[in-house]
Amino acid sequence: MPEPPPTADVSTALVTGGSAGLGQVIAATFADAGYRVVLVGRSSERLDAAKQQLDTQPGRDIVTLAGDVGVREDCDRIASTIEDQFGRLDVLVNCVGTSDRGLAGELTADRLHELIDQNVVTTLLCCQAFAPLLESSRGSIVNIGSLAGKVGARYLGGYNAAKHALAGLTQQLRLEWRDKGIHVALVSPGPIRRDDAGTRYRDRTDATLPASASAPGGGTKVKGLPAATVARAVLACAQKRRTDVILPGYLRLLIVLGNAFPRLGDWLLLKFTS
Ligand SMILES: NC(=O)c1ccc[n+]([C@@H]2O[C@H](COP(=O)([O-])OP(=O)(O)OC[C@H]3O[C@@H](n4cnc5c(N)ncnc54)[C@H](OP(=O)(O)O)[C@@H]3O)[C@@H](O)[C@H]2O)c1
Repeated sequence: MPEPPPTADVSTALVTGGSAGLGQVIAATFADAGYRVVLVGRSSERLDAAKQQLDTQPGRDIVTLAGDVGVREDCDRIASTIEDQFGRLDVLVNCVGTSDRGLAGELTADRLHELIDQNVVTTLLCCQAFAPLLESSRGSIVNIGSLAGKVGARYLGGYNAAKHALAGLTQQLRLEWRDKGIHVALVSPGPIRRDDAGTRYRDRTDATLPASASAPGGGTKVKGLPAATVARAVLACAQKRRTDVILPGYLRLLIVLGNAFPRLGDWLLLKFTS
């Protein structure tokens, strides 16, 4: 039997989309909790820049591996590299995903395919490629959903459909992989504070939509969350094997009420979005 790699005693977390936005903050949070963190993204330049920023805090063990997680061969290659170099994977955070703007009534099939590819297929391929390593470690998968995967909302184009599909995939994998010891969880945050919030989707927001449509969450009246709060919830979710986390937490009650009483749910959604 081959010797395990010398570093196999260090807990390892992989964050897809770790070179920007929420993924980079999640990477910092896991690194500060003592994990070796593997950042995955398509652009090597972006990965290098993120690593450089993350390395400014001493003691962090950050590794970058470039690849497109929408491509099965790239996911398999990254899984082999992790097995060869580190001998283990304890946590997979699937953070790659993209929002949208527009009316579902005008959504094209091509755009919906793109959003499903970016938000769901990337996650599916990573879960499949890394499952053997996670089975060995009895590890955790945390998929980053959205409030848009828990309820509908106006003006979010195909994002609601894509994140609802991700929520369904997450629960199904959790049930299927329970006996393998792999924990599969969903974290569904509301809008996250960032410098470019409110401007990112302007080019997807046409004049027929209210100006609020390009705002975070498509104009949802929920206060923006600090990315660090979401990242801490992701870490706790992996470590405490939580299954389904909604942020901010008080919205869970409204979502449960809305599911039990759909007319009330629609009323609440219209009230909470402008
Ligand atoms: N921002 C919010 O307010 C908010 C709210 C709720 C939920 N979320 C969810 O949080 C997640 C992160 O969102 P974000 O806005 O922080 O992301 P972001 O800033 O747009 O960053 C996306 C990251 O994913 C990487 N990426 C994209 N496609 C990839 C692919 N096919 N393979 C590998 N890497 C890929 C990008 O790097 P490359 O381009 O170099 O590949 C980048 O590192 C998403 O799932 C989003 O739906 C966000």
